[in-house]
Amino acid sequence: MKTFMMCEPAYFEVSYVINPWMSANIGLVDRALAARQWQTLHDTLAKKSHIRLIEPVTGLPDMVFTANAGLVHKQEVIVSTFRHTERQGESQHYTKFFADAGYHLKSLAPGVIFEGAGDALFDATGELWTGSGPRSDEAAVTEITNALQVSIHALELVDPRWYHLDTAFCPLADGYALAYKHAFSAASAALLQNKLGEKVIWVSDEDALNFACNAICLEHEVILYRASSELKAALKHYNFSVIEIDVSEFMKSGGSCKCMTLEI
Ligand code: ARG
Repeated sequence: MKTFMMCEPAYFEVSYVINPWMSANIGLVDRALAARQWQTLHDTLAKKSHIRLIEPVTGLPDMVFTANAGLVHKQEVIVSTFRHTERQGESQHYTKFFADAGYHLKSLAPGVIFEGAGDALFDATGELWTGSGPRSDEAAVTEITNALQVSIHALELVDPRWYHLDTAFCPLADGYALAYKHAFSAASAALLQNKLGEKVIWVSDEDALNFACNAICLEHEVILYRASSELKAALKHYNFSVIEIDVSEFMKSGGSCKCMTLEI
């Protein structure tokens, strides 16, 4: 059974703008609705996995997006170093959480920005895919390779709307993956195509804008905000079923289902 780290949205709001989705949504989060939506996601996952909660902290509204706590590999963790000052205060709380839980903390060279599992995703074979550009530095790749001794496929993100790798790419079971071509440089899109071949499911603009790639894959269930009937059909064809969870309040902050979890 998988274990996910989550953080209740007790202090969640949109109070600053660090991605394009947030700019029209300052002060517009319905916190009671957000709490219910988060609980639905939590309860859905809790049926098939373990959940560990980290305490939310006032003044750190984006802590709900635990995908950005760090990158966990076996008993090792690289805690995130955030690009924006608004989120930098989160790192100390993640460091404490992982230290208390007995993880080995690995750090990157000073000044290297790396936003954890938002920008680094293991596929079913254990290979790591990283994203750089809007958030994580390209230099993080060499650092992660050295720290965790894993092989990496590095991808470049080129559109500020898909600012973390997990907004545009999602490895699934059996070697399949969801991806949105226009989020990537031409070379990175070609790398995805070459490495995954027929197993890459390219999503439409509509699905990409609904963050369909920000999905949690639990065996053959894909949990996400919204998927078009075309995408559902494509997934069904490969033996995946879709569970849609309304996370509209978190979309206002540029985050969806997968961002609110971190596999630990
Ligand atoms: N408002 C948050 C930010 O811009 C959303 C983070 C979403 N996390 C993710 N892993 N994509 O940092």
